Amino acid sequence: MAIAQSAAAVSSAARASRPRPTRAAPRRIAASASSVAPPEPAARRLVAAFDPAVPLASAVTPPSGWYTDPDFLRLELDRVFLRGWQAVGHIWQVKNPNDYFTGRLGNVEFVICRDANGELHAFHNVCRHHASLLACGSGQKTCFQCPYHGWTYGLDGVLLKATRISGIKNFNKNDFGLIPIKVATWGPFVLAKFDSGFSQETADNTVGDEWLGSASDLLSRNGIDTSLPHIYRREYIIECNWKVFCDNYLDGGYHVPYAHGTLASGLQLQSYETHTYERVSVQRCESVQAEQNDFDRLGTKAIYAFVYPNFMINRYGPWMDTNLVVPLDATRCKVIFDYFLDKSLTDDQNFIESSLKDSEQVQMEDIALCKGVQRGLESPAYSVGRYAPSVEMAMHHFHCLLHANLSGDW
Ligand code: FES
Ligand SMILES: [Fe+2]
Repeated sequence: MAIAQSAAAVSSAARASRPRPTRAAPRRIAASASSVAPPEPAARRLVAAFDPAVPLASAVTPPSGWYTDPDFLRLELDRVFLRGWQAVGHIWQVKNPNDYFTGRLGNVEFVICRDANGELHAFHNVCRHHASLLACGSGQKTCFQCPYHGWTYGLDGVLLKATRISGIKNFNKNDFGLIPIKVATWGPFVLAKFDSGFSQETADNTVGDEWLGSASDLLSRNGIDTSLPHIYRREYIIECNWKVFCDNYLDGGYHVPYAHGTLASGLQLQSYETHTYERVSVQRCESVQAEQNDFDRLGTKAIYAFVYPNFMINRYGPWMDTNLVVPLDATRCKVIFDYFLDKSLTDDQNFIESSLKDSEQVQMEDIALCKGVQRGLESPAYSVGRYAPSVEMAMHHFHCLLHANLSGDW
């Protein structure tokens, strides 16, 4: 059932996503969403140039400045990415005690780790001595030792050792632990909330409501669970604004017959349907029946879920893949693809390789499209476009959400 976006739904989601302090945390000194410089008036004017009240059939798309202006991206980082739950990784990355991985979102450097007791944590990945980045990449560690002067922190964030500080005054080691970030899991995904100074693993049911709203149930029922082992990760740096990649995903299969000939032959494009929820849109498509005895990468139906602002969950046949779109600057983004596969097929190397090859082809086709769109957006010839009303409703929904979020409505 599609649930139309409404101001009430949006504001209740915002209320639900407010941080709830639960226990004392070290005094915050790191930059946070609230300390980012106020947005430029020009970026505010760009936000206002899109009118979400105009119905889809009459609406024009956001102006090209949404996709090219560095101040607009600064506003997005402040209001969109550094507030509320954000997907940052998956549970297989921190499956065992002492596992960790790092990441960056805007100017926020973070590390997610599981301590020796199995508790999940997230911290700003910045040494409290002179700000060196602490951990790098991913792997296993029993503690984080700063590469600069050797200050050492436990995986629970406690400062274990401050080297060569004899004679220091007014210094309490307990005040110099790593700055915590709120972290949680939902299904196989690890989420972080950067606008909160408290580290706590939140109950999954609360997170599902806050992150996915009323789509949470639907996604749980459609095979998005923790049982699919992680198989493979690929990262692409794409020369386009992060929203160009999202828009491409949200066009209701419009581009598939023109850009993905091979994929199109495996899908029944006339079966494409789109439903929108508070902060999620779901596109579904049926596949052409596979030959008997032929392992089918696409299965009988595909479900493509977009979780605002930048996370895609694709479930088809025995596969699930996710796409995390990370803005790098106004005209570049990184897209992280993670592939998960039904346990029964994890030993079938031929199937895995051929599936990943097919998927790679689709990605390369999409990347070429996205680069082309970005160059067009930067051309003086283009300012705004139109929507195809019967297919591009999820894209319009995305733009309306972004407008409300950037306008400060939630
Ligand atoms: S900056 Fe980390 S120990 Fe000096
Ligand atoms: Fe595509």
